Amino acid sequence: MPEWLKDAVFYEIYPPSFRDENGDGIGDLNGITARLDYVRDLGCNALWLNPVFDSPFLDGGYDIRDYKKVAPRYGTEADLVRLFAEAHQRGIRVLLDLVPGHTSDTHAWFQASCRAEPNEYWGRYVWTDHPFAGIAGHPYISGMKERAGSYMLNFFASQPALNYGWLNRTEAWMSAVDAPEALATREAMKDVMRYWLDRGCDGFRVDMADSLVKNDDENKSATAAIWRDVRSMLDRDYPEAALVSEWSNPVQAINGGGFHMDFYLDHVGNGYNTLLRDYEAGGADRSYFRKDSGGDIRRFLDDYLPKYENTRSRGYISMFTCNHDTPRPARTLSADEMKLYFAFLMTMPGVPFVYYGDEIGMKYADVPTREGGYQRTGSRTPMQWDHSPNLGFSIARAEDLYLPVDTAPDAVTAADQEQDPESLLNTVRKWIAVRHGYADLQADASFAVLSAAGQEVFAYQRGKLVCVLNPSGTAKQLRAGQLKGKKLLSVTGKAELSEESVLLGPQSFALLG
Ligand code: NOJ
Repeated sequence: MPEWLKDAVFYEIYPPSFRDENGDGIGDLNGITARLDYVRDLGCNALWLNPVFDSPFLDGGYDIRDYKKVAPRYGTEADLVRLFAEAHQRGIRVLLDLVPGHTSDTHAWFQASCRAEPNEYWGRYVWTDHPFAGIAGHPYISGMKERAGSYMLNFFASQPALNYGWLNRTEAWMSAVDAPEALATREAMKDVMRYWLDRGCDGFRVDMADSLVKNDDENKSATAAIWRDVRSMLDRDYPEAALVSEWSNPVQAINGGGFHMDFYLDHVGNGYNTLLRDYEAGGADRSYFRKDSGGDIRRFLDDYLPKYENTRSRGYISMFTCNHDTPRPARTLSADEMKLYFAFLMTMPGVPFVYYGDEIGMKYADVPTREGGYQRTGSRTPMQWDHSPNLGFSIARAEDLYLPVDTAPDAVTAADQEQDPESLLNTVRKWIAVRHGYADLQADASFAVLSAAGQEVFAYQRGKLVCVLNPSGTAKQLRAGQLKGKKLLSVTGKAELSEESVLLGPQSFALLG
C-alpha cells in the first residue's frame, strides 16, 4: 500500500475544460501544467486526469484509439512527461485514466479483429462465430464487418468489449478466462500500464473495472482475480503506484481485486445520493446536506458503515464532490451547504476527490451535448478562473470554445473567491489544510460514530479528534462525555463548547481536539 495515499487529497481534471494554453479553444496538457500552483495552493497533492489518449472522442476520450499516444489536441508525450515532472516538483502525484474494458472501434486491434481472415487480434475482442447469432443479455453489433460474427459492446456502439474471457461459458465461441487470447488481452493492458508508469505517472483510475470477465459470478471473482494479478505487478515493480477503481463495490474491488481505493459512486447504491442528491429518486429532496430538508444521516451510514468496516484494513473508500459523469453539487446546494459537505469530506476516512470547479461552486450548466456527454456535459464546462475573456479559460473566440463558459454576470471565479476569506474556495482550502495537519484525519485513522439521528448533530471520532456537524437551519446541541476537555480546533459557522456539550449554530461544523 503506497504510504502517500494516507494523506492524499485528489483533484480530478477533465482535460478539455481546465485551461487552454495554446489558444485553440480546447484545454490542453500545457494548460494543466501552467495551473499546477493553483492545485498545490488548494492543498490537493494528487491529480486524476480523464483520458488524454488518441481518440475519435465519441465518448469524451473513453473511446481510445491508441493507448500509447497522447491525443494531439492535448499536446504530445513530451508535454505529458513534463506535466508529471512539474507536478512531482510540487509534491503532486498524477493518475491517468485506464480504460481496460473496451477501445474505440477505430483502434488498430479492433480493425484487425474485424478482418475475415484469422489473425493475431482475432481473439482480442468478444466475437461470436456466426453473424446471425447474437449474445443473449448483452449488447452486440452484427452485419457491419467482413468477419462472419457479431461483436459485443461494452458501452456505446463505438466501444467494442475487449476479451478477458467468460466465466460461465454457454457457447463454443466464448473464451475461457485462461485461454491464450484472454491472457493476451490482460498482458496488453499491463503493457499499457507499464508504458505510462515508466514515463512518470503514479497510477491509474480504472474505468468500469468490474466489466472485464463476462458472465462472471455474483462476487465478480474472475474479474477480481485479474486485478489481483495487476496488483502483484505493481507491488513488485511499482510499489508507489496507486489504483482507484470505478466499481462501487469496495468489498469486491478492494478485498477481492486488490484495489487501493474504490469510488463511492452515485449510480450504484444510494449512500452518496442521500447526502447530496436525493432528488434523483423523485419527490421531495431529502438530501442530508440541504438545510432543513429533514434528511437523515443514518440513511448514509446504513449503506457506508458495513462497506467501511469490511474494507478498512485493506484499502480506502473514496468519496468525492461529483465527477465528469454526475451533476455538480451546485445544481441543488447553496455555497453554505457545500462548505459543510467539504468539511465533512475532508474529515472522513478514505481518500477524498474534488472535481475541478466544485471548490468554487461551479454550476451544472444547461448546455448541448458534446462528444457523447449528453446530460453529463453540464458538469464539463470550462474552469472559471477570473474575469478576463472566457473567464480566463482560453483566448479563443467564444464560438470556438470546447464548451461555452458561464456568461452570467455573477459567474463564480477563483480570482474573486481568492479575495474573500469566507468564500467557498477559502473554506475548501482551510479544510484541506486541516486534514493535512492531523494524523488522526488521515485516510487510515480510526473512525467511529458518536451520535447520528436525522438532521440533529452528527458527531464522529477520528482518532482522538471529534467532528460535529449541524447541516440544519437551527442551532443544535450535543452532550457527550467524549467532549470533555476538548477545545475547538477549527470551525465553519458557529460553535460553543462547554464542559461536556457543544452548541452548534445553524449550518455549522467544528473539529474538536
Ligand atoms: C465511465 C466513465 O466515467 C464514463 O465517462 C464513460 O463514458 C464510461 N465509463 C465508458 O467508458
